[in-house]
Amino acid sequence: MRTLDDLEVSGRRVFCRVDFNVPLDDEGKITDDTRIRAALPTINALIERGARVVLASHLGRPKGKRVESLSLEPVAAHLAGLLKGGEVILTDDCIGDGARQVTADLRDGQVALLENLRFHPEEKQNDAGFVKELAKLGDVYVNDAFGAAHRAHASVSGIPTVLHEKAAGLLLKRELDVLRRLRSNPESPYIAVLGGAKVSDKIDVIEALLERADALLIGGAMANTFLAAQGKSMGKSLVEEDKLAIARSLLQKAEDQEVEMLLPTDLRVGLSLDDSSGQVRGLDDVEDHEMALDIG
Ligand code: 3PG
Repeated sequence: MRTLDDLEVSGRRVFCRVDFNVPLDDEGKITDDTRIRAALPTINALIERGARVVLASHLGRPKGKRVESLSLEPVAAHLAGLLKGGEVILTDDCIGDGARQVTADLRDGQVALLENLRFHPEEKQNDAGFVKELAKLGDVYVNDAFGAAHRAHASVSGIPTVLHEKAAGLLLKRELDVLRRLRSNPESPYIAVLGGAKVSDKIDVIEALLERADALLIGGAMANTFLAAQGKSMGKSLVEEDKLAIARSLLQKAEDQEVEMLLPTDLRVGLSLDDSSGQVRGLDDVEDHEMALDIG
């Protein structure tokens, strides 16, 4: 896999796919900028090396239509505040004359951000015509969108078939380096912490981890399904009823392989997901009208 160091970027337009799919509140304010900050090392490296940086991202799931509340405008403003140069030019659309003009006029070290890729249905369809239009905006391609790298979309897997000079960004490389170390040469003790709503999404990951890890710590709503599989009454908690058998077999496998699978020993319960007055209860004390909101 080629990395940034393998690319000649000075004076060239670098089409850089990033994952700026950040959470926004009702007023459109960014509530967590981790993903923007995670892309800064690559963006700053490109700026320092005199590249003309063309950033591209999706935001949310606008279903192929322009949705103003999912504009990347707040992201452009926030990113500008984080960059030394303090300037990010947001295009009106991610393809077309406007985007071509903005990217053609970029000076070395300047940064443009294309408007939300998913305003076009062709992004998710990996449409060949759309790929060509996007590819006109860059001379070389960098993928630093680790969080979106599993998507076979135009900006992820389409463009690199057209822009042959390509490389992984620093974030993508770092994530892969860590994953490689965890797969092939993990240090001991190796403890994996897992959360999220669904067991079903993670069965393969848990099975793979049982081969390597010393202990798994399960939290999030997914812990509810494991606790229910152990016979606990979980009230109105989110539980994947159709995955109880799988949860039981994963617990059994962990025991057979002598991997500790640690579940919460108490829970914060409430009446609904936005109940802020939740109380900490033992595992046997969740009432029928209550739900688990978090670990105790
Ligand atoms: C994510 O938030 O998981 C990534 O940005 C991918 O978004 P998606 O699930 O809408 O493709």
